[in-house]
Amino acid sequence: MKYMSEKKEKYYITTPIYYPSSNLHIGHTYCTVMADAMARFKRLSGYDVHFLTGTDEHGLKIQQIADKEGVTPQEYVDKIVSGIKDLWATMEISYDDFIRTTEERHVSRVQQIFNKMNEKGDIYKSEYEGWYCTPCESFWTESQLEDGKCPDCGRPVEKAQEEAYFFRLSKYGDRILQLYEDHPEFLLPDSRRNEMKEFIKQGLEDLCISRSTFDWGIQVPVDPKHVIYVWLDALSNYITALGYPDDPEQFNHYWPANVHLVGKEIVRFHSIIWPAMLMSLDIPLPKQVLGHGWLLIDGGKMSKSKGNVVDPVVLIDRYGIDALKYFLLREYTFGQDGIFTNEVMLKRMNFDLANDLGNLVSRTTAMIEKYCDGIIPDATTEDDIDRDLKEIAVSVAPKVEADMDKFAFNMALENIWVLVRRANKYIDEKTPWILAKDESRKAELDTCMHNLAEALRIVSILIYPYMHTTTEKIREQLGISGEVKWEDTFTFDMLDHEKVCRGEAIFPRLDIEKELAELEALKGKPEEENVPLELKPEITYDDFAKIDFRVGLIEKAEKHPKADKLLVFQVKMGTERRQIISGVANYFKPEEMVGQKVIVVANLAPRKLRGLESKGMIMFANNGERYEIVGTIAEDGKVVE
Ligand code: MSP
Repeated sequence: MKYMSEKKEKYYITTPIYYPSSNLHIGHTYCTVMADAMARFKRLSGYDVHFLTGTDEHGLKIQQIADKEGVTPQEYVDKIVSGIKDLWATMEISYDDFIRTTEERHVSRVQQIFNKMNEKGDIYKSEYEGWYCTPCESFWTESQLEDGKCPDCGRPVEKAQEEAYFFRLSKYGDRILQLYEDHPEFLLPDSRRNEMKEFIKQGLEDLCISRSTFDWGIQVPVDPKHVIYVWLDALSNYITALGYPDDPEQFNHYWPANVHLVGKEIVRFHSIIWPAMLMSLDIPLPKQVLGHGWLLIDGGKMSKSKGNVVDPVVLIDRYGIDALKYFLLREYTFGQDGIFTNEVMLKRMNFDLANDLGNLVSRTTAMIEKYCDGIIPDATTEDDIDRDLKEIAVSVAPKVEADMDKFAFNMALENIWVLVRRANKYIDEKTPWILAKDESRKAELDTCMHNLAEALRIVSILIYPYMHTTTEKIREQLGISGEVKWEDTFTFDMLDHEKVCRGEAIFPRLDIEKELAELEALKGKPEEENVPLELKPEITYDDFAKIDFRVGLIEKAEKHPKADKLLVFQVKMGTERRQIISGVANYFKPEEMVGQKVIVVANLAPRKLRGLESKGMIMFANNGERYEIVGTIAEDGKVVE
């Protein structure tokens, strides 16, 4: 790990470590783009930044997907993680470290963390009984379920009962409430903190931290039958990546983290479990957990089963990294959910990038080439319009700094665009094409060209954290070389006869209708999700073998005289004839059943249904909407195998 100057203030920022269960989508990209913009902004402002991201690779879900694909979990995650790293490389995400929870450095450190918490007396073994949501890798108690489903994602949960290790989370509830009291900025936005307070006040339960029914995880060091439950494993990444506990020098350099940037659905883990773990380990707490909102599509979360997952690679291929990053950072308000639509995205790209910024660059460079032989001239005159442009230009940076303190990326960009739009208006007000016709106004024309180039120079620095490739393009066209320095936005007259070099349009105009149609055509097909069926309790083979299935021929069928839903069948099996009643009158007309061969559970105890005896049961399959006969080709009365 690099050590930068000790004198620089340090800034440690993290993203969640993503599950490599499938390729990442625009939602993950959104979070990483925000973290990257902040890391770049802080570096530019002179901080010693450490930006960590990575992947959370253990757990039942990954194991199940790998099994389905017929590969080992390690093979499976290796492939997905390499795709994730490619995506971040394409997007030039400036992380300093990428941690994978399957790396040896992480595995051994998590085991040391487990041992330390155990030695502290914070871990004990007991019996776990509850519900498990595999997609979320979360345990729930009966009372936490919503309509019997996972309260986070609404999917079915599975009953889980096993011996497990527990972390004494309940012990830390009061200290965490006190933390929120003393440092309200620890968890933002405020609404999330209030939710967490309520959650803690209802009483924290100890946390199950191991599983023994699958093995794709880090072994519990004192009991290798168990693997560590994924959240203890996952959360530890923020310190294992820094070297905790065996490399205190590296660790102390950047810890405590300044910001854990996470989606709102995992705020609970980061603002309750994580501080409790750190309290147990007696190490300082991170300064801030920030919960950002979700990007929603069609009013809900993106999901493969709905086929509405937005693939960042498609958008980057068509519009470029900077256009996508600009859109994500400009469109959405930090902390709130936002709706993603292609139309909103394309309009932003056209209005703000092609029209406002792109035009400003091409107009400025074209005019300097035309009126000044391509050399940026000096400014020797000044009127109110010039003064207004200059004042706005040098006052943007402090506003951006204030916005960035609040993670208000959209406001930071809006403040920069105030200058971009002012510069475009400046051209319209100055009418350089008229000045150019009058030799006596050459000084004014030069001033106009100089000021436009200066405004663009400042814009090129201001946008660096959010779209650094565009920074480079603008500077190349303006003939500016050298390092991008934040403090150079504070002064106006810095250009010195640079030679402009007009290039391609930095953001070509998009034909929105055409793009919409093409994006629609590229849309992925809904993908089946592997959600376990909701079943009755498991039965043994011996239970099953007690059932005697036979083939029956329906000789007669009529409606039950006293029940609308029931049909009364006379069924022949071998030479035996008997009456069987089924609740399928809504699905079949009696006459269409006569002559059908059906499978019958022949040894079911007889039962009276509305006064008539039913001896046995005809098998029907229900597809959620209607019943179908379970087909058969055997002779009447034959055993079904
Ligand atoms: N592995 C855990 C995190 C462990 S951190 C110690 C996990 N992984 S995840 O792959 O599900 O990624 C979750 C994060 O991705 C969210 O917290 C959020 O930052 C980002 N997003 C995933 N879908 C998103 C949207 N639809 N919208 C915005 N962000 C989203 O949870």
